[in-house]
Amino acid sequence: MKNREPLPCVKADKRRGEEIRIALKDHKLLKTDAKITTNHNFIYLPLIRALTEHEQRELDVAELSTKEFELLEPRRTIEELVGLKPSFEIVGDIAVLTDDVANEQLVAQAIMSLHKSIKVVAKRISPVEGVFRSRQLKVIAGEHRTETMHKENGCRYKLDLEQVYFNPRLARERDRVASLAAQDKNEKEEVIDMFAGVGSFAIQIAKLAPQSHVTAIDINPVAVRYLRENIKLNGVSNIEAIESDIKEVYRAFTDRADRIIMNLPKSAYLFLEEALSMLKPEGGIIHFYDVESAYDVSAENRVGVAIDKAKEKLTASIKKHEVQLEILDARKVKVYAPYAYIVGIDAMIRK
Ligand SMILES: C[S@@+](CC[C@H](N)C(=O)[O-])C[C@H]1O[C@@H](n2cnc3c(N)ncnc32)[C@H](O)[C@@H]1O
Repeated sequence: MKNREPLPCVKADKRRGEEIRIALKDHKLLKTDAKITTNHNFIYLPLIRALTEHEQRELDVAELSTKEFELLEPRRTIEELVGLKPSFEIVGDIAVLTDDVANEQLVAQAIMSLHKSIKVVAKRISPVEGVFRSRQLKVIAGEHRTETMHKENGCRYKLDLEQVYFNPRLARERDRVASLAAQDKNEKEEVIDMFAGVGSFAIQIAKLAPQSHVTAIDINPVAVRYLRENIKLNGVSNIEAIESDIKEVYRAFTDRADRIIMNLPKSAYLFLEEALSMLKPEGGIIHFYDVESAYDVSAENRVGVAIDKAKEKLTASIKKHEVQLEILDARKVKVYAPYAYIVGIDAMIRK
């Protein structure tokens, strides 16, 4: 007879299941020894306790519930197996160690024994670098490959983690932006993703807003090869992939866009002229990303300071162009480094 217990839980749309599961786990709120359940549309994620209103807002969780869950045999933790808690991220079936660890072989074997879906363990040997925003990895256990298939918000992305940029921690941000683009089903938007990578924003938008048209541009030929493959894989036809430096191609899209995605956080502000010229004469929305740090402030003010700095950078960079800027929303997207954050800003521009 299986042991069952009523537990507080999050009830979420299945599409957002993985994103919310990761966020709850990061906040140590997921009850990991109870079995997650699903039905046709929803996923039920068991919690160690009910969420506070603040946590509910922060995690963007709409529905809380209580439900009976099957309790699982307590699993051995990675700390019990190797005496430390390594930090790693999972993309598809690859786990990437994000910090140096002693005894990496032992750690890699422990990760694979605890996460049966992981087939490769790699470690970073360079930061994300260069125009292509790629990084070098070294496979330390499992199959010798860096290509994988990652599922997120109902889309599938094939990618090579060493040759293209991909960050699973942007899942929630991508869902946010795609939901905004899909809000009005009668609005046929022209969307341009200036730094599209393997299509992680562009394909989600194309799928969620099938009435709209998306142009996805990237300078990295490998990223565009995967982008084209992912377009087919996800069965979206309202999207066009272009391999080019945006500075070379933007004139072909003058006055075209209702919405522009600028996910190149360290230097998006250097591409505002191109973005503005691509917006329709009546203007449109830009989703602007920036990296900002906040060193000399107390811990609770750091995020606010970084957000203010990003707003100032956008405002100052746009000042020289004769347009009106209205900031609709500004938020922390993720931690970038100690004391530094990626900030996302949604802004309405009127030309
Ligand atoms: C931070 S990644 C974002 C990729 C994707 N949007 C995502 O969220 O996974 C930035 C992308 O911009 C591309 N890139 C950098 N400079 C570019 C340029 N001048 N024109 C077009 N793409 C560029 C890089 O190749 C890289 O794929």
